[in-house]
Amino acid sequence: MIKHDVKDPGLAATGKLRIEWADRQMPVLNLIKARFKREKPLKGITVAACLHVTTETANLARALKEGGADVWLCASNPLSTQDDVASALVEHYGIPTFAIKGEDNSTYYSHINAVLDAKPAMTMDDGADLVSLIHSKRKDLIKGIVGGTEETTTGVIRLKAMEKDGVLKYPIIAVNDADTKHMFDNRYGTGQSTLDGIIRATNVLIAGQTVVVLGYGWCGRGFAMRAKGMGANVIVTEIDPLKALEAHMDGFWVMDAVSAAKIGDIFVTLTGDINVLDEKHFKLMKSGAIICNSGHFNVEINIPALKKLSKSVREVKSGVEEFSLKSGKSIYLLGEGRLINLAAAEGHPASVMDMSFANQALSAEYMKKNSTKLLKKVYSVPADIDENIAALKLKSLGVTIDKLTPRQKEYLASWQEGT
Ligand code: ADE
Repeated sequence: MIKHDVKDPGLAATGKLRIEWADRQMPVLNLIKARFKREKPLKGITVAACLHVTTETANLARALKEGGADVWLCASNPLSTQDDVASALVEHYGIPTFAIKGEDNSTYYSHINAVLDAKPAMTMDDGADLVSLIHSKRKDLIKGIVGGTEETTTGVIRLKAMEKDGVLKYPIIAVNDADTKHMFDNRYGTGQSTLDGIIRATNVLIAGQTVVVLGYGWCGRGFAMRAKGMGANVIVTEIDPLKALEAHMDGFWVMDAVSAAKIGDIFVTLTGDINVLDEKHFKLMKSGAIICNSGHFNVEINIPALKKLSKSVREVKSGVEEFSLKSGKSIYLLGEGRLINLAAAEGHPASVMDMSFANQALSAEYMKKNSTKLLKKVYSVPADIDENIAALKLKSLGVTIDKLTPRQKEYLASWQEGT
């Protein structure tokens, strides 16, 4: 039996069926998988992957394995693991997997270490925990690593900070920065799955609620758009004047977070920063306010400050904790402040993860081919890979587009033709 640590092998059959269901909506990754099977571009490479263990990730792991990689997988968040998927990966697909939904911090890190014990030549991160651990406590592994990839905005920010400080020891491809990743996964994926998480956790009616969206990056934009679509009155808060102006002209109510705290019913943080909802906001919130986070780390809501204001905390429903404040009010925290779309729902739908993970697979192939030419920097996904994924996705959707005529090309290349 391959090495692993999963909750219950008995869940594997359900997990396999769900992985196959997601697979039906991942046509681009499937094309890559079929080519990988023929060409084996990752032959002999051990890949350590620290990703949310979902049905979509399982299909990425299968594609990498078909490409010849020895894939080891652990969770990139203690609450995002789908236990049936983790079991199926071990039992049906022969992928060493270390992930249990609800694992404590020390188990989370023991799982990362278990994957690193495989001595990877490549890392695949969602949040940069692998890279961070390798550069702090597992430095011995650096000499064997050709490069890595990073899935998410928060991870890319951490890695760029490492590059800036001159401490990054191997090249990374920032998958998040591909257009076919953030324009779809961050916007439409987060938009839908965040609402899905809130609804699954609470079953509240969104119509008529005042929903406060903290942060108007790609994720915030997607969520604000979908909340509005379900009939919420949407308020956006921002620190960036340009994004605030964009939200204003997109038709949202824009104000500072303290003002929003007094009138919101549901608050969602999507900023990537710390203490975005803090003591001063909790004190102003209405009794019954619902708060949750859809950013990568559970730091956006200052939970210790909320605890300090409270006389008691109890779980009133799976994933819903009631904080009874000394002032007499109640505030409801969803999913322990961890990313609500994965803690209470199933994460982004397979159809968008198709493009994100096509970027991962092709970036891994590119990294293997080009690692000797790359410096210890954070790189963008090559533009031809990004464009190719968009073209393949359109084709799979049966959407046709036009081509420039020679005359149109000539016109666009000229400066002489004007009024
Ligand atoms: N991040 C957000 N949604 C995800 C999903 N379904 N699978 C893996 N990572 C994700």
